Amino acid sequence: ITSIKGKDLLTLADYSPAVITGLLKKAKELKAAYLSGEATPVLIGKILGLIFDKPSTRTRVSFEAGMLQLGGQVIHLNGQEMQLGRGEPISDTAKVLSQYIDAVMIRTFSHERVVELAEHATIPIINGLTDLYHPCQALADLLTIEEEKGKLQRVKMAYIGDGNNVAHSLMIAAAKTGMNLVVATPVGYEPKEKVVELAKKFAFESGGAIAVTNDPVEAVAGADVIYTDVWTSMGQEAENAQRLLDFKDFQVNEKLVAGAKEDYLFLHCLPAHRGEEVAGEVIDGARSFVFQQAGNRLHVQKALLVEILK
Ligand code: CP
Ligand code: NVA
Repeated sequence: ITSIKGKDLLTLADYSPAVITGLLKKAKELKAAYLSGEATPVLIGKILGLIFDKPSTRTRVSFEAGMLQLGGQVIHLNGQEMQLGRGEPISDTAKVLSQYIDAVMIRTFSHERVVELAEHATIPIINGLTDLYHPCQALADLLTIEEEKGKLQRVKMAYIGDGNNVAHSLMIAAAKTGMNLVVATPVGYEPKEKVVELAKKFAFESGGAIAVTNDPVEAVAGADVIYTDVWTSMGQEAENAQRLLDFKDFQVNEKLVAGAKEDYLFLHCLPAHRGEEVAGEVIDGARSFVFQQAGNRLHVQKALLVEILK
């Protein structure tokens, strides 16, 4: 693994395929150790700060538990309880925090704010979800696919739904690892053009492929993996009624998945809305790996923390 010691994780676009593969390998080692009850106290004395400007179950608990399992500690830095909530510049906050703790994980709205934090901090900044990207989720997605399919290269994945943060990170992750990803969204909900271009460039380098369509049936044809996410992301609640109408033909249900390979995997970053983006019969069915996927958040993030902090 090329060293990422001291590095940020703002987007997987900044990590080479070798680094991503190395993180997955490390995650598998840490998962095996965890499952066999072996202690891995390699980050004793290290402190991770956690900032959440949006709700979270998986990200919050897996980062906190992961850091504790590695022998480190966490401090919750609630945005509203800090001077940041009263207008202290993010650049000043970055310079101050850098002298007290060893890394910061932040979940917030604007990706630019996280970039700004990273620019002014001398400690690693980890993106725990912005409106643009969700890289830690994509690492867990890759690990789950590799565990079940034995490889990533040329695995065919269909992402059905909103061209959102989760879709963006999945595109970058798939492109970096040589996967063949088709993203199907309603008209007007396509992924950002600059992310599509970036992903296509990475796919060209890895031998993978990235395509965008408005036809979910076409996307799912012959797929090894079907992925979806909520139609209304955090911060978009006012658009919910319109989105329910616009996405109605994009539900992942038995009829749609019939076009995939028989041994397809269903993935969803969670939380899920049964009856909206996915039918209960699919997410609660035999081909659903969503809880293994959620569990893998812990292991990939521990691998990340070890590689950037140890
Ligand atoms: N998938 C995910 O990031 O979940 P949380 O919002 O619960 O952290
Ligand atoms: N796209 C969703 C993912 C939640 C984990 C959101 O941003 O709300």
